[in-house]
Amino acid sequence: MYQQFYQHFLKANPGKQHFACHSHHYWPDVTRDATLAYWDDSARLVDDKWELVFGEKVPAVQQHIARILKLPEPEQIVFAPNTHEFVMRLLSCFDWSTPLTVVTTDSEFHSFHRQINRLSELNTVNVIRVPTEPFATLPERLEAAVAAQHTDLVFFSQVFFNSGVGIKDLTALVQTLDKVTDAMIVVDGYHGFMAVPTDLSAIAKRVFYLAGSYKYAQGGEGCCFMAVPQSSEHRPIYTGWFAEFGELAKAKQGQVQYANNGYRFAGATMDCSALYRVLAVFDLYHQQQITVEKAQAYIHSLQQAFLLLLDEMQHPLLNRRHLLDKQNQQQGQFLTFRFAAEDVARIASALKQQGIMTDYRGDRLRFGFALYHNATDYNLSCLKDIS
Ligand SMILES: Cc1ncc(COP(=O)(O)O)c(C=O)c1O
Repeated sequence: MYQQFYQHFLKANPGKQHFACHSHHYWPDVTRDATLAYWDDSARLVDDKWELVFGEKVPAVQQHIARILKLPEPEQIVFAPNTHEFVMRLLSCFDWSTPLTVVTTDSEFHSFHRQINRLSELNTVNVIRVPTEPFATLPERLEAAVAAQHTDLVFFSQVFFNSGVGIKDLTALVQTLDKVTDAMIVVDGYHGFMAVPTDLSAIAKRVFYLAGSYKYAQGGEGCCFMAVPQSSEHRPIYTGWFAEFGELAKAKQGQVQYANNGYRFAGATMDCSALYRVLAVFDLYHQQQITVEKAQAYIHSLQQAFLLLLDEMQHPLLNRRHLLDKQNQQQGQFLTFRFAAEDVARIASALKQQGIMTDYRGDRLRFGFALYHNATDYNLSCLKDIS
């Protein structure tokens, strides 16, 4: 149905069933032209390229993201090559020499997890990690952990990378947190953006929302973004010269000044080919009227077809009983199976030998689903020989 848009990647991987899309999504064909267009614009415009990038491309991408996430102020969106840069920039808003309390979960992606672990080696930094399971009570437990003391930063994912389960009602959670804390609230939306219909309109004033192009936005690595609340007066110490673009906010005499919009969280010169690619994907989706809701419905139909095939195979480990999310709280675009770590690694590698690409982390085997799949192409018969 949608495979026509992914011909280059599909032809380059004949015979493969690619279930690792939640990690490394195939890129639609339009992204190849977009990469070349960046090259051509660079050759044609040389020094004047940045006028085109900042005058047309950046605002166009901001408009698309704002439309998709229902953000009222597109200029509050800022770009960086990866989310780690934003994590670091957000953390640099705090004074690490005085007590800092961070409330997060036990299931955050490495870009945050590793960084906060390293930071917690400082005597001043206290990190409280709330277990994501049981998922049904996570919002209440997160709220209680935040309210239990003065909290400076709350950081959690919209959809957790190690389960695919997400926060059911993001607006309600942020609004509840807002009642008990004035902490900075940051949502890692990487597994939610363009996978789950998301409406940030009611919480855009309160929440920092991070995501990027590598997964469901399909533009490849290099174009992450952050939506910054309009009221933000933060002055990140880790700051680059792009943060001075446009109108500047007032600062005390002699202080470094920051842009009056999302660009106060900007870094410096970056390769914008991913920005071109993601713009091409947004345009394609728009032209083809592929909404996040439509894509999600298609993905759900693929997941159901896959599970029915799996039922037929009656595999001792790869079956519904080992789905991590048994209550169907699943929100992301991948299914996670949980069983012993050594079995997970063995089965993932046996599947790979049969051209079935998955990925795994510890005791979790993840199967992702994408628009470039057709349920009729799924073939799991090799499971008969994998015990
Ligand atoms: C939840 C989540 N956040 C962030 C990232 C990417 O982090 P970075 O852009 O810092 O490499 C990933 C990548 O897999 C992720 O799963």
